[in-house]
Amino acid sequence: MESISTQQVESAQKQLGIKDLSKATIREIVAIANILEKETGVEFIRMEMGVPGLPPAEVGVRAEIKALEQGVAAIYPSIDGLPELKKEASRFIKAFIDLDIAPEGCVPVVGSMQGTFTSFLVAGQCDEKKDTILFIDPGFPVQKQQALVLGYKAVSFDVYDYRGDKLRAQLESYLSKGNIACIIYSNPNNPAWFCLNEEELKIIGELATQYDTIVMEDLAYFAMDFRKDLASPFKSPYQASIGRYTDNYLLLISGSKVFSYAGQRIGFVAISNKLYHRSYPGLQKRYGSGNFGPVFIHRALYAISSGTSHSAQYALAAMLKAASDGDFNFIEQIKEYGNRARTMKDIFIKHGFEIVYDKDLDEDIADGFYFTIGYPNISGGDLAKALISYGITAIPLNTTGSQQQGLRACTSFIKPHQYELLDKRLKAFADSLSI
Ligand SMILES: Cc1ncc(COP(=O)(O)O)c(C=O)c1O
Repeated sequence: MESISTQQVESAQKQLGIKDLSKATIREIVAIANILEKETGVEFIRMEMGVPGLPPAEVGVRAEIKALEQGVAAIYPSIDGLPELKKEASRFIKAFIDLDIAPEGCVPVVGSMQGTFTSFLVAGQCDEKKDTILFIDPGFPVQKQQALVLGYKAVSFDVYDYRGDKLRAQLESYLSKGNIACIIYSNPNNPAWFCLNEEELKIIGELATQYDTIVMEDLAYFAMDFRKDLASPFKSPYQASIGRYTDNYLLLISGSKVFSYAGQRIGFVAISNKLYHRSYPGLQKRYGSGNFGPVFIHRALYAISSGTSHSAQYALAAMLKAASDGDFNFIEQIKEYGNRARTMKDIFIKHGFEIVYDKDLDEDIADGFYFTIGYPNISGGDLAKALISYGITAIPLNTTGSQQQGLRACTSFIKPHQYELLDKRLKAFADSLSI
């Protein structure tokens, strides 16, 4: 392999004005790799971005084309969502999580990103004493950006040392202050791919009820804990969910990864029946009507985007329906990410790397869309920089709120011929350290 010198990496950093690689955003790492690929001709192994690397679910594409041909592009969609989609979203939740959420609470959004933004916005207006978002980290960095854009306070902790029953005291140390408007986490977790288990979700749910805070469960990687078969409708095992442990919750379900439908920016928020109808004094004062669900839809979403792309709603309705009918096993195709993770992790481990977030308590984490890697005695920032010289990109964990040293690697862009390249490059990297 043609190697990339430290000077070339530093020059790319300089061109982009990035002083410290350990603080670089995902987009900045992408830009560095683009510059270096162009300047050196070295093919990069790209593990920095979480973009689906598989074709979109065909049932969605067909339904969307049909809807467009029938002229839906000319008509504003209802902000609440297509009745058909709302019905199928509610049914999908019953089929794969075994929760009952009425169709009225299932609301399409322009990607889960809009779902979290709107949820933060409304949750932060419910009670003036509750002005802070609690992130159970590590997490998806853009969501902190959303809090910043909204001007909301945010606090967080790395759950690495607080798994199992240790979570209770740690969570309570934040919630007991009385200022937490909402709690957010993703399950499976981006970036570390651990899954909070039923015991941990029970702790979060009980405390959310006790301290009256809203839990936002980000299921962007719905059913992608490939250790279990979560894709058989209306049959156990079901996707683990906070909905079994509190009424103060909403779920964020994205079409991006599960259906490889990221480009159409479609997902849905499912607001629990109780939360939907709950009246909050802060909302009453601001809007003159205080119920969470109607404010979410007819005030917040109306002001932000006035609904979600009409044709994409038809696509999502068709994908959800086919999944719940048992006609479309949505996991079959995306299991590929798990296979890639297994192969990639083996290569990293062979060359002296460690999986940073390696366990769900005493069980090995699943193989999936992301995994985390560290190298003994090297900080995440230094490791990211060192691997760039070997044509490998990944993001430092500290950009995700993690206190651990290491990198997040994404499996979505790796191509079959790159496993051998990865092996060679990591060998060269490890050899350079032992000289
Ligand atoms: C945890 C998490 N939440 C939300 C999203 C965004 O989903 P969407 O594409 O539906 O906006 C992602 C995408 O990477 C994610 O990793």
